[in-house]
Amino acid sequence: MAYGSAPTPPVTPPAILARKGAAPIVCLTAYTSPIAQLVDRHCDLVLVGDSVGMVMHGLPDTLGVTLEMMILHGKAVRRGLKTALMVVDMPFGSYEESPEQAFRNAATLMRETGCGAVKLEGGAHMAPTIRFLTQRAIPVMAHIGLTPQSVHSFGGYKVQGRGAEAQAVLADAQAVTEAGAFSVVIEKVPDILARRITADVDIPTIGIGASAACDGQILVVDDMLGMFAEFKPKFVKRYAELGVEADKAIAAYAEDVRERRFPANEHVFGDVPASVPGAG
Ligand code: KIV
Repeated sequence: MAYGSAPTPPVTPPAILARKGAAPIVCLTAYTSPIAQLVDRHCDLVLVGDSVGMVMHGLPDTLGVTLEMMILHGKAVRRGLKTALMVVDMPFGSYEESPEQAFRNAATLMRETGCGAVKLEGGAHMAPTIRFLTQRAIPVMAHIGLTPQSVHSFGGYKVQGRGAEAQAVLADAQAVTEAGAFSVVIEKVPDILARRITADVDIPTIGIGASAACDGQILVVDDMLGMFAEFKPKFVKRYAELGVEADKAIAAYAEDVRERRFPANEHVFGDVPASVPGAG
């Protein structure tokens, strides 16, 4: 910040809502403080996604993620952010039972992490819960299409909304909009359906495996950085190959240690005077 200039104000849910149809909204996930610092410099919105379970904890899916995990990573991300809006995912089992359960856990997430909004999965059937939260000062980002917490019901991470199914996804988008969500993530649906939803609803659509016509885009940060060499879904563009780079670096370190090339002179401390007991 230049001397005398005002700090950039933090992005808020109403500011994201006001971006409908305007400049694309840039979003990424983050789970740690250092990555949050990097992402904050370039993004409008940072999601502490429940993908943290798979990315950081080696879980097979997002179903094992707990409220405690979301709080821990949310707190870490909060410390790394200055301006981007921080949204925290509500984990599986923390909101589906009743609007009251959802409110209790969303309030805990906001109080403990300092996030500005929560995200939850589900369309028309979750609309009453979204309404209950938004009427009680909890901004909600909705998530429709492929909702990963329902992976078992879907029978895998399949494209949603093909053919006759399209109408149901469109109805989901309309329901979460009417319920007061300030934005909606649309995951893994045909391009034409994401375009239709974006044209139809008054809230920003944030695409992942959806369409360039969405009001914004989101990716899992580790995916776009290429941290997992083997994981290459069609909807991810790799902007780096950090997994390959990290593997090369660790291999070089291991070889240096085995060959006694590390530590070299520049990494060790100077001579100890002979007067020091045990030094000679
Ligand atoms: O958990 C997650 O990372 C998400 C995505 C939308 C990226 O929900």
